[in-house]
Amino acid sequence: MEIIITPDPAAASHLAARRIARLIREKPDAVLGLATGSTPVTLYKELIRMHREGGLDFSRVSTFNLDEYLGLAPDHAASYHRFMEENFFQGVNIPRGNIRLPDGLAKDVPAHCADYEQEIRDAGGIDLQVLGIGSDGHIGFNEHGSSLASRTRIKTLTERTREDNARFFDKLEDVPHHVITMGIGTIMESRSVVLLAFGAGKADAVAGAAEGPITASNPASILQMHPDAKFYLDEPSAGALERAEYYKWVFKNKPAWQADQ
Ligand code: PGA
Repeated sequence: MEIIITPDPAAASHLAARRIARLIREKPDAVLGLATGSTPVTLYKELIRMHREGGLDFSRVSTFNLDEYLGLAPDHAASYHRFMEENFFQGVNIPRGNIRLPDGLAKDVPAHCADYEQEIRDAGGIDLQVLGIGSDGHIGFNEHGSSLASRTRIKTLTERTREDNARFFDKLEDVPHHVITMGIGTIMESRSVVLLAFGAGKADAVAGAAEGPITASNPASILQMHPDAKFYLDEPSAGALERAEYYKWVFKNKPAWQADQ
């Protein structure tokens, strides 16, 4: 696990975008795992800028999103289909057929989840998974107590997560209780993980994930077991880390060959 503490979300997003761009240049048919929420918006903007101004080509890239609300149609204003369309897909050249999100209107949810897992396997697995982190440490919509070996499935949101996400809806009562999310086991199989966290509201979750015990009470803590997980943080979200000065020193003093990895 590498902890990269940057001055602000723009700097963190820029570094994360550079890492994703390098992957796509090395492997033009890369499979990306994508996240929604406020956190990755600047990252997506930066990737769109790289596509428009730097010729970063997404024409062979495939994507799998982490999650979707159950009961929301793709064109619902708060659906993750719509979020991804507006914040990323309409700005880059990923072929429509290469884009996958869980279907919020799936009739047979377990069968749909099994199909989603199969589609990830058929694509050769996820090369790089983008993650945010909930204020309670959730990744995807894997709430507290989620099995650390879980696969794509239905989950029930906690009240805290519903309240955190209510800003995307007209009112709290409109936030669905149920979602489909990739499991923690699914996320752990991606070859690289890029987790972004911004703001003081994430500080405890980040500290627990990076420096606490591995526990289903902070699902992101399982990333301590991932061979290539990087956290891109701003100063406030790094505010509760005990070893912050060490992480900063490490980042500043990387050997040249390691600097952009
Ligand atoms: P946020 O959500 O980026 O909107 O803070 C993160 C998450 O819940 O994973």
